[in-house]
Amino acid sequence: MKKKLLYYVANIDFYFYRFFPKKTKKVRNYYSLDLSLFSIKILILKVINKIFNLSLSELFYICGSDKFKNYQNIYNILTSNFKKNDKINILEIGIGSHNLSGASGGGSLIALSLYFKNARIYGIDLFDKSFLNIGNISTFIGDQSNRENLENIQNQIPDLDLVIDDGSHFVDHQLLAFDVFFKVLRDNGVYVIEDTAGSYRIRNNGDPDLSDDKNIVTYFQKYVHCVNYEYLKKEYQDNLLKLKDLDSVSFFKNCVVLVKRMKKEFKNINEEDAYLTLDQYNQKFSKNKKKEGYIETI
Ligand SMILES: C[S@@+](CC[C@H](N)C(=O)[O-])C[C@H]1O[C@@H](n2cnc3c(N)ncnc32)[C@H](O)[C@@H]1O
Repeated sequence: MKKKLLYYVANIDFYFYRFFPKKTKKVRNYYSLDLSLFSIKILILKVINKIFNLSLSELFYICGSDKFKNYQNIYNILTSNFKKNDKINILEIGIGSHNLSGASGGGSLIALSLYFKNARIYGIDLFDKSFLNIGNISTFIGDQSNRENLENIQNQIPDLDLVIDDGSHFVDHQLLAFDVFFKVLRDNGVYVIEDTAGSYRIRNNGDPDLSDDKNIVTYFQKYVHCVNYEYLKKEYQDNLLKLKDLDSVSFFKNCVVLVKRMKKEFKNINEEDAYLTLDQYNQKFSKNKKKEGYIETI
């Protein structure tokens, strides 16, 4: 009830358009009025957040991002990775509302900026969303399918702690963005790829037959052993070097979350040790581990 009420208050601009449908088109084109309503909305959001100290998923809800319903659990986990006051750098690909003119879209950037007050928040979209360039938010026009565009933006922003890919939802674009931004993720950084359902559809350049270059889940499955990098034989380490710093990969419905942790030591498994049978091991180290799994203590 409280959430619903706050939603209506915070989305006053939307209701203005709804209750004055004839004016809607004019208002949308009358950009300065649109911007004034947007500024009022931000002010209201700030006051509501100050009074109620909202959680990230509540903020997603009242700011109009669908993350609150589709990915609530995931973003709850996320807020345990970072503290509210952390000075983190966040990038979201896909700001929202597509090519709709005026001050529309940006729900998730606004929610993130209200929750992580000391963060720097960056957004990329195909369309100009510069009305959001206030406070700690900066936006870029960029195409997720274009490596040069992405690298150009990457060169203008600091290394990142959190990347959210909610852009085109085409598999090749998701993999391209991952290639550009995962390497500039800082220690303990989190990379979220939303809408992985496209991996199972041809129209999103995915593959219903689960091939590893067109299906995100199969792609990361290939690298899943990186979480145990230090236990791998050298030859496997060499093959998986690209994602050696992968600390965890979690597959959720319609979403993949990857955490990076720098592996400082380049250890690899002692092969002689790895191939010892239980009998050879017991003999070599004078142990008494039984094939049932327990250690016999006499
Ligand atoms: C689902 S909306 C993002 C919603 C927003 N992240 C939120 O949670 O409120 C997707 C956005 O991605 C943008 N987009 C689509 N294709 C893109 C591309 N190739 N490069 C950059 N942005 C793209 C669209 O313009 C649209 O605004």
